[in-house]
Amino acid sequence: MTTIMPAEKKSATEISTKAKGPEPSEGLEKLINSEVYKDNVCFWERAWGGVKTAYTQMPELPYLPLIPETLEERGAKKVLDLGCGSGWLSVFLARHGFVVTGIDISQHAVNLGRAWAQKEDLTIDFQAMDIANLVYDDGGFEAIVANSIFEHFPLEASRDIFKLLKNVLKPGGTLIACFDEVGMGAGEYFKLEDDTHVYTDKARKGMLLRNYSDSELKELYANWTIDSITPLESGSRYIVATNK
Ligand SMILES: C[S@@+](CC[C@H](N)C(=O)[O-])C[C@H]1O[C@@H](n2cnc3c(N)ncnc32)[C@H](O)[C@@H]1O
Repeated sequence: MTTIMPAEKKSATEISTKAKGPEPSEGLEKLINSEVYKDNVCFWERAWGGVKTAYTQMPELPYLPLIPETLEERGAKKVLDLGCGSGWLSVFLARHGFVVTGIDISQHAVNLGRAWAQKEDLTIDFQAMDIANLVYDDGGFEAIVANSIFEHFPLEASRDIFKLLKNVLKPGGTLIACFDEVGMGAGEYFKLEDDTHVYTDKARKGMLLRNYSDSELKELYANWTIDSITPLESGSRYIVATNK
């Protein structure tokens, strides 16, 4: 089982001893300590454990070129890549000259990202960290990117995480997220009250998966300014928002 190291606040570029920002809310803390969540963490570590080297091909996503474009337009330099996996988006942004921090729950995924960055001589701060327990200084980032992440959190957790994001992002900072339209596929699962699927079959045991309705998205972004929502052919939604 993965051990999530206790929170020690960090600045966007270095470890800081200042402990600012909110602790996880009671609800989020309860979730983090629940069996469902722990099984989910184990699922990701297991899934990444099977990956021996980072897949260094950039995915063909229609919005990919828009990300650096948007960040440049807004003068954002320091970017947090949430749930970075083995780091393709972090690498992509670092190649464009952004100062990138990539976090993922899986230590192994982060190690793959580090090896990749080293190969390309890129400086990227990869850290094994739980999105639900971000330990960065308030306003430490000018932008956050979250690609294919929130589908793996129950709605209430996403609500709380959105609050945490507001803190680590400077006022006026940018949040770029892609909410995938996920097919639940075959397999065994039970459902949480909010329709999050919790898989129980061998292959996906512990994985959480849900789709977001338009009204749920609207609610998540209630305290943000949504600059654009782009529906993609796949059914996914690419959203650019500002921390107001
Ligand atoms: C569907 S993958 C997306 C990875 C990457 N962002 C991409 O676009 O390819 C979801 C990622 O979220 C990570 N993850 C899941 N739960 C997490 C958590 N609580 N904190 C940080 N990362 C998490 C997983 O390890 C995995 O790398």
